[in-house]
Amino acid sequence: MQKGRILLSVTGFNPQRWHELLSASREVVLKPDGPEDPSITYAVVWKQPANILAKLPNLRAVFSIGAGVDHLFNDPGLPDVPIVRVVADNLTQHMVEYIVWRVMDHHRQGALFRNQQQKKIWREPPQRLAGDISVGIMGLGELGRAAASVLLGLGFRVNGWGRTDRPMAGVETYHGDAGLVPFLNATDILVVLLPLTPATKGIIDYGVLRQLRRRNGLGGTVLINAGRGRLQKDVDIVRALEDGTLKEASLDVFEVEPLPKTSPLWSHPKVFVTPHSGATSDPAHLAAPMLAQMDAFERGEALQNVVNREAGY
Ligand code: NDP
Ligand code: OXD
Repeated sequence: MQKGRILLSVTGFNPQRWHELLSASREVVLKPDGPEDPSITYAVVWKQPANILAKLPNLRAVFSIGAGVDHLFNDPGLPDVPIVRVVADNLTQHMVEYIVWRVMDHHRQGALFRNQQQKKIWREPPQRLAGDISVGIMGLGELGRAAASVLLGLGFRVNGWGRTDRPMAGVETYHGDAGLVPFLNATDILVVLLPLTPATKGIIDYGVLRQLRRRNGLGGTVLINAGRGRLQKDVDIVRALEDGTLKEASLDVFEVEPLPKTSPLWSHPKVFVTPHSGATSDPAHLAAPMLAQMDAFERGEALQNVVNREAGY
């Protein structure tokens, strides 16, 4: 039997590499043939144009090129088929490296030393141990749990907050609305690895940042957001940095991306900016498992890493 075609629909980057790799075992098109295209059975997407998927009568599943699926839910014509997201060792490893890099830089006072070097100042500040610092991970899912386990190995105390009660050895876990303030009150470095959903949009506001544990061995609180930009309110972060609520921030994601040149975050001395590059989806590692899932699905096996549409992630 002929394998169904894949619609590859991406916005914001050149899909050539994805096209080449997905073409290894199926025909791949960048646009449907005509207003209705019954030949397409799978869509591989990143920010697909609105309603493009609604016109594929034989669509069986949608694959997100990324771990996050908020980009898909912006489409009012999103069909009622399973949505599969990326869960992959390669992506997880990239994110763990990013989180550990940023936690260690704040812990070891990277900003202070960069400033001293620029001014040729030879001064040794007091040193703290990782065990004196609590890292709180908001979103203790695939990426959060992997980061937590490496941070534990480095000696940090680790807290985690999720939607449901999912304990993890060595981690102080909290969940739901009732768990949020106690989690924040016990956290010095806040790491955000939440998905963007109606429930999490704008959650990182001034009120939340005020709840972090300011009197700590770190000399202030730190925010690291590698989840999604619209989880945070950029203006509240600037306010918190200005009045000392936050000591420093590492931001990989922003309310508007690319971060507008006019944003004060670009040049803020207490902010470390990266361009949504915490963990890049690498087709060399992700395309073959996607094709394998399509084949397995057609043999009657269940799809893996299917999104919970009700929860939105
Ligand atoms: P998962 O779905 O595995 O984990 C999500 C976590 O967030 C879970 O712990 C979940 O709780 C928690 N959560 C979801 N909604 C809520 C809520 N309303 N209240 C409290 N906790 C909530 O996702 P991943 O770890 O794979 O990815 C996380 C996010 O990272 C992605 O959605 C994406 O936005 C972002 N990302 C960013 C990248 C970058 O380059 N910057 C790259 C890849 C991903 P529970 O455990 O109870 O389900
Ligand atoms: C993702 C991302 O969600 O790259 O995978 O942001």
